[in-house]
Amino acid sequence: MRIILCGFGVVGQSLVKLFDSRSEDLYAKYGLKPRVVGVFDSKGSAVDSSGLDLQKLIEAKKKSGTVKNYSDTKNSMSGIEMLKHVEADILIETTASNYKDAEPGMSHITTAMKKGMHVISVNKGPLALAFPSLMELAVYNQVMFKFSGTVGGGTPILDYAKNSLSGERITSFAGILNGTTNYILSNMSTGLSFDSALKDAQSKGYVEADESLDLDGLDAAAKLVILANWVMGMKVTLPDIDCTGIRKVTTDDIKKADKNNCSVKLIASCDGKLVVGPKEISNDDPLCVNGTLNAIAFTSEHSGTQTIIGRGAGGIETASSILRDLLDIRQEIART
Ligand code: HSE
Repeated sequence: MRIILCGFGVVGQSLVKLFDSRSEDLYAKYGLKPRVVGVFDSKGSAVDSSGLDLQKLIEAKKKSGTVKNYSDTKNSMSGIEMLKHVEADILIETTASNYKDAEPGMSHITTAMKKGMHVISVNKGPLALAFPSLMELAVYNQVMFKFSGTVGGGTPILDYAKNSLSGERITSFAGILNGTTNYILSNMSTGLSFDSALKDAQSKGYVEADESLDLDGLDAAAKLVILANWVMGMKVTLPDIDCTGIRKVTTDDIKKADKNNCSVKLIASCDGKLVVGPKEISNDDPLCVNGTLNAIAFTSEHSGTQTIIGRGAGGIETASSILRDLLDIRQEIART
């Protein structure tokens, strides 16, 4: 399978390391032979239609901060140029989520689909701003579009709701979908102020470069859009979410909740309305997880409420979700 990888940050690099370390087992177990023919980062690119040397690629990135120095030719091709001119079967889109115009991810995805390539995206921006039209574009071009890493990172939240609960009618769901704000709120419950808890989260590298994406609830809202479309069959985008972040949560709010055996959590919910906001939940509720964990409870017509808990971020965790999507595509192709 020929792959173009757009974005070579923590997730992209983890994926390439995963391909490299698991190459024999992926082939033996699943018949999967990923051939990375192009990689693009913000400073340049590396292309080889017979397959890039993955260790050399990691080395180039480590040494100079870009894949541009992979070979002496110092390739400056943009992601779009690469998608237009290099033959490949799959785009893996890992550039940063942008909730203003979703670029450059949006153009990468639409260009690839129009060229007949299957797409795996862990970039939430394009899905948050244009989920319904991207699904239509995928159907129109008869390509597969997978995005299991966009919600829950390595924890298969979307697959669980869509496939494990297949045949059920999910009536509502509520979840903690942003690990950073959960970490901050958990630390505030031990007495830290918002500012100190934020600084601590930043020092651990949890907070997005644009902190507003976490603190103002945009990241959780983007994940809610994806769930609402994929699991509930709604046709919604980011402006449809009633979204409040955690900046106004005080230590007093947290103490008050504690007196009622509750914690304040940033909850994304779909129960008639689509809402992201701080909410008191009982400490006995399975949803009430701490630290950077994510959790989501799906309530369905016949099987009651089920909660799935796991790590919602991280390079290698998200890379494992991409591998899952890749295997799905491989199996689907083999079936047809
Ligand atoms: N900033 C996100 C979080 C990363 O804290 O959950 C994963 O989308």
